[in-house]
Amino acid sequence: MRSGVHRCRHRRVVNPPRSVDSITQRAVQVFIDVENASKSFGPLIVLKDFSCTIASGRVTALVGPSGSGKSTLLAAMAGFQRLDSGTIRYRHPNGTTDLPNAQRIAWVPQGANSLGARSALDNVLLSALASGRDLTSAREIAHAQLQKVGLGDKAHVLARHLSGGELQRVGFARALAAEKPIIFADEPTSSLDAANTFQIAELLLSLREIASIVVATHDPILVEAAQDVVQVRREHGAVSA
Ligand SMILES: Nc1ncnc2c1ncn2[C@@H]1O[C@H](COP(=O)(O)OP(=O)(O)OP(=O)(O)O)[C@@H](O)[C@H]1O
Ligand SMILES: [Mg+2]
Repeated sequence: MRSGVHRCRHRRVVNPPRSVDSITQRAVQVFIDVENASKSFGPLIVLKDFSCTIASGRVTALVGPSGSGKSTLLAAMAGFQRLDSGTIRYRHPNGTTDLPNAQRIAWVPQGANSLGARSALDNVLLSALASGRDLTSAREIAHAQLQKVGLGDKAHVLARHLSGGELQRVGFARALAAEKPIIFADEPTSSLDAANTFQIAELLLSLREIASIVVATHDPILVEAAQDVVQVRREHGAVSA
């Protein structure tokens, strides 16, 4: 039977001071508490009594074999996927909690889903506009976030002319421009070579003072870089009675 027990390896890392970004004014601390989460698809048990805490201001890797439920857990924590039982709560420093809400998170899809015929800047700008910024401040934020991910000099390059690694960085810039306290990324390096993966790993570590970052990944480079590791286990063939 599938075990709901997970391992969460907390690495000893000295957190940088939580600075407040000069443009986006974000340094919101949110912990995510997952308690006894269970989720099945038909007879297939994916999560069973699974519990973990995602700490604020850190890079957390969700790891586990293919099909173990990493994406399912990520989607549930984002508020996209309902659990069958158990709870997921966002916990704030003042002690209040609330339920997952897709409005609170930025999602970085694999390959970043960019608009190929628009510039890197436009791709990021759209995100800032969608979160309510006026055009002037959205443009300012988009430029700043492209700088942050190391693409300041590619702002006007069409997305379809960017490399896979650069596109993935555009995806993170877009997530930052959305000004959310939590960024979730599902397999952000699965199509990248080692050099680009190292760049993404460095980028994630540099962003953690702006947002808490949770990545579902198989990638040993990202797992090594992550400060916390949450192990999602699969019990092969686990099916409900
Ligand atoms: N909407 C769905 N309907 C039916 N089965 C689903 C659905 N979503 C996921 N599953 C199944 O649940 C299991 C876990 O899927 P999930 O995508 O969470 O795994 P994963 O750990 O992210 O895998 P990978 O590493 O391959 O991305 C898989 O067997 C998958 O086929
Ligand atoms: Mg997955």
